[in-house]
Amino acid sequence: MIIRLDGINRMHINLKTKIPGPKSIALMEERKKHVARGPFHSTPIFIERAHGAKVWDVDGNTMLDFASGIGVVNVGHTAPEVVAAIQDQATKNIHSSINVLAYDGYINLSKKINEAIPGDFAKKTFLCNSGAEAVENAIKIARSYTKRQAIICFDHAYHGRTYMAMSLTSKVKFYKHTFAPFNPEVYRAQFPYQYRCPTCNGSCSQNSEKQTKPEGLRSDFNSDCSPCFQSFVNMVNGQIGAENVAAVIIEPVLGEGGFLPVPKGYMKSLRKFCDENGILLILDEIQSGFGRTGKMFAVEHYGIVPDLMTLAKGLGGGMPIAAVAGKAEIMDAPPEGGIGGTYCGNPVACAAALAVFDLFEKDKSSLLQHSVAIGNSISAKIDQWKKSIPQIGDVRGLGPMQAIEFVKDPKTKEPNKELASKVAKYCYENGVVTITAGTFGNVIRVLVPLTISEEELEEGLKVIEDGIKACL
Ligand SMILES: Cc1ncc(COP(=O)(O)O)c(C=O)c1O
Repeated sequence: MIIRLDGINRMHINLKTKIPGPKSIALMEERKKHVARGPFHSTPIFIERAHGAKVWDVDGNTMLDFASGIGVVNVGHTAPEVVAAIQDQATKNIHSSINVLAYDGYINLSKKINEAIPGDFAKKTFLCNSGAEAVENAIKIARSYTKRQAIICFDHAYHGRTYMAMSLTSKVKFYKHTFAPFNPEVYRAQFPYQYRCPTCNGSCSQNSEKQTKPEGLRSDFNSDCSPCFQSFVNMVNGQIGAENVAAVIIEPVLGEGGFLPVPKGYMKSLRKFCDENGILLILDEIQSGFGRTGKMFAVEHYGIVPDLMTLAKGLGGGMPIAAVAGKAEIMDAPPEGGIGGTYCGNPVACAAALAVFDLFEKDKSSLLQHSVAIGNSISAKIDQWKKSIPQIGDVRGLGPMQAIEFVKDPKTKEPNKELASKVAKYCYENGVVTITAGTFGNVIRVLVPLTISEEELEEGLKVIEDGIKACL
């Protein structure tokens, strides 16, 4: 245990220098000289290694990682099973391209994904390299199948940085700024953001059935949000025509948008509307998948079945791999050669992803149960902070995918981006890596590796709590 002068005992965090330390500072100077300005750094820290929920920086500081490489290492950093699978595969075949010399890892992983996603119909999978690429391909597949063009996405959505994914993304600065023109036939509907709902100002959540939290669910999750859904229907019928819509793409829990779960009733209405109008429903589970919400996929909280899903992040345990998966007849719409890419479904990445599936299967109950347990611990803590800190306007999430939205005043709900940024800075300076989110940049999100121990979690949450109090 590290006994600190300020009286806070740290079992896991061990800071030997100020953060950033001298080596991180020197590397950042080099980075500025040699790397394009575009890629953003939410911390000034360079790391040497990582394991479980801990990271060690180049200056020898031990920190807790509450960001998981933006929700990727759900099974923990350098999970031994994932490392072993990568090492083994790397000695056999690093790359032959599935388009030239095929290998069983691609097939085995596709089969695993088809078995894991919901739907009692035949399913197929296409593998690619990143979330954005999965989104691109999901749209290509949906258009190819429906022979329609219009795509509906949502306010506050984030789907990636390539042109179609960026066109579907909502936030302008800095995801879209200076990059226009965007893709045509993209229509944006209002997201049922209960805390800031322009249609009903949250009244639909007040009417919802109250519920305790068996799986980290808050009562407003059950809302039907019917006024918001009616505004969606009006928009489709008034501006596009349902018969022109190929697909609706939605994140069941907004990721970059600030961890807003789609209310259950809204999602069910959306599914019904899509069915009635021959529209495909694409769930983007790139951030919410692989145990992140206490279930393998967030869709399992809803009792609906999407036509297509996009997966990435947690899938590869840290290796770059992504997937589009869903109904076989839809997935088979593009002709042979119509979708693909040199690196798609790389064998080393497939091996890592198969190891991730093994971890969820082997430890099915324990990994997902732990995810639910830490979700409950996080939500209990942040719910409690909200009671005494008026600048916490909203707390929300599903399972361990929890977030805190800061406001200047609880009545006006004016977003408090400055506070979120200050808290994030306080946290990394004190040994906890967090990231912000939200269209207004005023949200701190908790994206811990799902293997984090309760002790590590508690220590990290204490730093966040201290940070909020210190920065008010
Ligand atoms: C919901 C969602 N979709 C798509 C993406 C894009 O994924 P990638 O960064 O791998 O391109 C992200 C990334 O944060 C995401 O959270």
